[in-house]
Amino acid sequence: TIPIIFDTDPGIDDAAALSILLTNSAFDVRLVTTVAGNVSVDKTTLNALKLTHYFNRQDVKVARGAEKPLVKPFKDAAAIHGESGMPGYDFGTLSTQTIADEAVVAMHQTIQASHEPITLVAVGAFTNIAMLIQRFPDDLQKIERLVIMGGSLSGGNLTSVAEFNVFTDPDAAKIVFESGLSITMLGLDVTEKAVLTTDSLATLAQINETGRMLSALFDHYADHTGTGKPMHDVNTLYYLLHPEKYQMRDIWIDVVTSGPAIGATVGDILQSTHDTTNAHVALDIDGPAFNAWFLLKVAQIDDA
Ligand code: BDR
Ligand code: CA
Repeated sequence: TIPIIFDTDPGIDDAAALSILLTNSAFDVRLVTTVAGNVSVDKTTLNALKLTHYFNRQDVKVARGAEKPLVKPFKDAAAIHGESGMPGYDFGTLSTQTIADEAVVAMHQTIQASHEPITLVAVGAFTNIAMLIQRFPDDLQKIERLVIMGGSLSGGNLTSVAEFNVFTDPDAAKIVFESGLSITMLGLDVTEKAVLTTDSLATLAQINETGRMLSALFDHYADHTGTGKPMHDVNTLYYLLHPEKYQMRDIWIDVVTSGPAIGATVGDILQSTHDTTNAHVALDIDGPAFNAWFLLKVAQIDDA
């Protein structure tokens, strides 16, 4: 099993990722942390709690993280994910279970308490991760690797060059890419190919209750490519389980933190500015295999 801290901003594709994360025994979920991104951190925290509750995973602690980026003003993506961040399904009333500590402290405690190095997965703005790096630099030695959904080498989804998670807090992303952590970057280059096709979306609603729940959320998910709805954040988990489905290359990534290209991730593909690399970057994915795997994993969730 993979010991994981999962940093997220649910968010509809985040909800899809959490659904797999919380139900797959390959993942030993040590902590879920939340960040402002798709919607406010109050809403992303509530949404994470809705899902731990839905999947009967009250054993998984949820810790609330940063409410705004390090430098930039906060701007949400409610236009894509709805005002609540997870619209379309009634999760009922909640028992509260947020732990008292702020996300960065909870991460630090979890990392220090672990007997094995932790896999950190981040699928929202990278504010919490940057704060961890700055506040608890010794923790980096106990992080096996950081797997992120974010960035792009082939154009953006928020501006023509910037991907949403990096654009939301570029200063944090820059700290993360320069931290020396072993970083795997799953950007739009692959996540826009990891889609649920229109046919699969129709099938999903018939599979089981979780499929119905996800299908209801996806009906409200305004993100779409020519072929279907992109499951951006789910790529982190698919990659951890099936790295052979991705084509990877080691590249130096610079993050642009000001000017018209703010939030862009520039890959030194020709190795003209750096003779070293700081990220394992996904260039391509077997999209149909992803689509089939996602349906299978939802079908295997025991609704009872
Ligand atoms: C990323 O931005 C968010 O809206 C999604 O949840 C995903 O993490 C895609 O650019
Ligand atoms: Ca996200």
